[in-house]
Amino acid sequence: MIVAVSTQQKIGFAIAIVALLAWIVYIFTTTHRTAEPGSEIELAPNRRPYLDDDNMEGPRLDRFLMWSLIFLGIIAVGLPLYWLREPSRQAGAQRGFDERAVARGHNLFTPAPPPSDPGSRVPHFGCSNCHGVNGTGGSTSYALPGTNPPKMVTWQCPPLNTVTLRYRDDEITNIITYGRANTPMPAWGIAGGGPMNAQQISDLVAYLHSISIGSSKAVDAAAPLGTDGKALFDGYCARCHTEGFSYGEPAIDGGGAFGPSLLNGVTLRQFPDEKDQIDWVTNTAELGKPYGQRGVSHGIMPHFSDMLSADQIKAIVDYERTL
Ligand code: HEC
Ligand code: HEC
Repeated sequence: MIVAVSTQQKIGFAIAIVALLAWIVYIFTTTHRTAEPGSEIELAPNRRPYLDDDNMEGPRLDRFLMWSLIFLGIIAVGLPLYWLREPSRQAGAQRGFDERAVARGHNLFTPAPPPSDPGSRVPHFGCSNCHGVNGTGGSTSYALPGTNPPKMVTWQCPPLNTVTLRYRDDEITNIITYGRANTPMPAWGIAGGGPMNAQQISDLVAYLHSISIGSSKAVDAAAPLGTDGKALFDGYCARCHTEGFSYGEPAIDGGGAFGPSLLNGVTLRQFPDEKDQIDWVTNTAELGKPYGQRGVSHGIMPHFSDMLSADQIKAIVDYERTL
């Protein structure tokens, strides 16, 4: 049987052999003394004559003082230099820390390369299989739950290069941890029954920040829709508020799916003052905070302050209030 020997093991063997040889030499030299036991080969230090006072308090003292001065100089110049470098060293450490998190997140996001690739030894979870390379959005086939025989549909997977514009970090962490029931989005975190630990999810959030296209590009992308309330609703809201929208079989607009039904004047009752509804769609509320008349935020409705212009949000809200 051939056992592969790692570098650590080779170094370990080398150290063990050197130690063994040294031990043998020691045993040999102590057992083969040439001189009589107890005989003084050279005078012991306490019996040797030492320097006289003139020498001790003259050249020798000067030498010691000179060395002290040199070391003092090194410390006096070196310490401030070290302090000067310190802020940029810390910034560099922080940047390196973030870059490594993004690199790990990128690995998690992409599918595993073939086993021959050394990159395959780190975990990959293939988010891009559904969400597209660099998170530009994609689709996946999915068997609708509760259909017998299973009804296959093609489900649109939202782009993730704008997800950090729409959600707070803790909200993204929750979405990844628990997934979204009855959609193709599985639960990934251990708390949700998935395979990923908190560190990995935090790395993914760092990666999602790194691929964000930024607010101005996102706002530009929405510009062609103008202030057409229905078109904007279909583009940005319907996948959650209209059953079947994500797989091309939309039921009634705003009838409710993952997000609640907005029909029959629900939003008029929840937000008697339209300004409050505009504020909700613009900023939402943090997990557990109240909104509208009777709402409590679950931290799962995206905010659109960084995605749509104020006029566009007003147009969507006007549209919603007619449903
Ligand atoms: C099998 C396909 C699939 C895979 C794999 C997948 N997702 Fe998803 N994901 C979806 C779908 C579909 C949705 C939208 C669900 C819906 O319609 O509400 C979604 C939604 C999301 C959302 C919320 C976006 C939003 O705007 O609503 C985030 C964040 C997300 N996924 C992150 C991830 C991450 C990170 C991974 C990899 C660890 C991943 N997804 C892997 C299908 C997938
Ligand atoms: C990712 C899914 C998702 C998207 C996209 C989404 N919503 Fe929501 N929305 C929700 C959820 C979930 C709630 C319920 C709030 C909660 O539970 O925290 C909600 C609640 C609301 C409410 C309050 C309803 C009530 O009666 O309490 C309004 C109004 C609303 N959304 C409007 C919009 C508009 C406008 C858009 C598009 C610009 C939009 N939503 C996009 C998921 C979504």
